[in-house]
Amino acid sequence: MKGKRKKLTALFLCLVLIAALTACTGKDEGAAYAEEPAVQSEADAESSDPEALKTGNRQEPSLSDTNILIAYFTWAENTHVENPEAVDVDSTTSASVLLPGNTAKMANWIRERVDGDLFSIVVEEPYSDDYDECLDRAADEKAENARPGLMYHVENMQEYDVIFLGYPNWWYTAPMAIFSFIEEYDFSGKTIIPFCAHGTGGLAGSVKDITDALPDSAEVLEPIGVYRPDVDSAQPVINEWLDRLGFAETETADIKIKITVGDTELTAVMDDNATTQALIEQMPMTLPMMDLYGREMCYRYGAYALPTDNLWSDGYEVGDLAYWAPGGSLVILYKQNGEQFERQHLGHIESGVEVFENTGDVDVTFELLESVQ
Ligand SMILES: Cc1cc2nc3c(=O)[nH]c(=O)nc-3n(C[C@H](O)[C@H](O)[C@H](O)COP(=O)(O)O)c2cc1C
Repeated sequence: MKGKRKKLTALFLCLVLIAALTACTGKDEGAAYAEEPAVQSEADAESSDPEALKTGNRQEPSLSDTNILIAYFTWAENTHVENPEAVDVDSTTSASVLLPGNTAKMANWIRERVDGDLFSIVVEEPYSDDYDECLDRAADEKAENARPGLMYHVENMQEYDVIFLGYPNWWYTAPMAIFSFIEEYDFSGKTIIPFCAHGTGGLAGSVKDITDALPDSAEVLEPIGVYRPDVDSAQPVINEWLDRLGFAETETADIKIKITVGDTELTAVMDDNATTQALIEQMPMTLPMMDLYGREMCYRYGAYALPTDNLWSDGYEVGDLAYWAPGGSLVILYKQNGEQFERQHLGHIESGVEVFENTGDVDVTFELLESVQ
């Protein structure tokens, strides 16, 4: 819907890299998957309540003007955590049940650069948020070469030429859901670009296994693997990789929306992130907004109803549009009263936001205007 369709300007095969990457088969210290004899063979190492999952980019992607799909699987969007606050974020084993998952972070950075459509691969039956239970089920699924059922489907796969395919290393390969995904569509003639978040096992056999599962006419390009502790700082590395693949940095266009309240029309310039993209896909939309604290108009989608990269920022200005993911609240700040809450910034209304000082609860219509350079 914005930006331009990007073309691969340089394509090259990944065989050399695969060879290099699969050579990295170290195992996570203390990680149970490194000690489980049932699934940890040398061959492995060397060859190669769903309603509560209110997050991610699980909705079917609507094809805008891109021919690029960024599909990924991440544990955090495939489990349900009853009490996120109780999760020990310092623990290397439990960290990835918290949103956003490592692979999702990578996916969002790829999308920032290549302007593709995001699609989260979600199994019908969520995995346990308990690490050991998740490990056990993943091990069983791998041993059985299972194909877990998927909740969501890409209806217009034929319109995508390039598919970035993201996943965590699970038991020295990709989660079996990735193979469910691959087998669901015809990837003949398409370009597949794997990306992987992993422990000390690197990409292990994942790229080979994915390549084997694809038709011969699919082309697999240079993959990237990012070690779990490095994911948060990996955006530059991902951009360098995308440069090598020929995805040049894009010129960004201003995304403008019209906000109508009664007879008044306001214009807002939106940021470019996963949350704004999801909102824009719903437009035009009219939301019954509540006047809260004499300060902000609020519409509650429900916790994590929209994808979020949790780009928290404080210090909001009058006119800002923002999203608070844990409560799923979309807000327009129309007056300062001293209090500030951490929210994800979505955009800014250029002028006239004081109209809300007198509306009380009111229906507000949001429409996309043309993107302008
Ligand atoms: C079930 C399971 C199996 C795993 N197996 C491996 C493995 O074999 N090798 C490895 O390096 N990391 C392994 N890991 C660690 C994940 O690859 C790593 O934590 C990754 O960053 C998780 O990404 P995510 O947050 O997108 O799910 C495993 C994690 C889980 C939950």
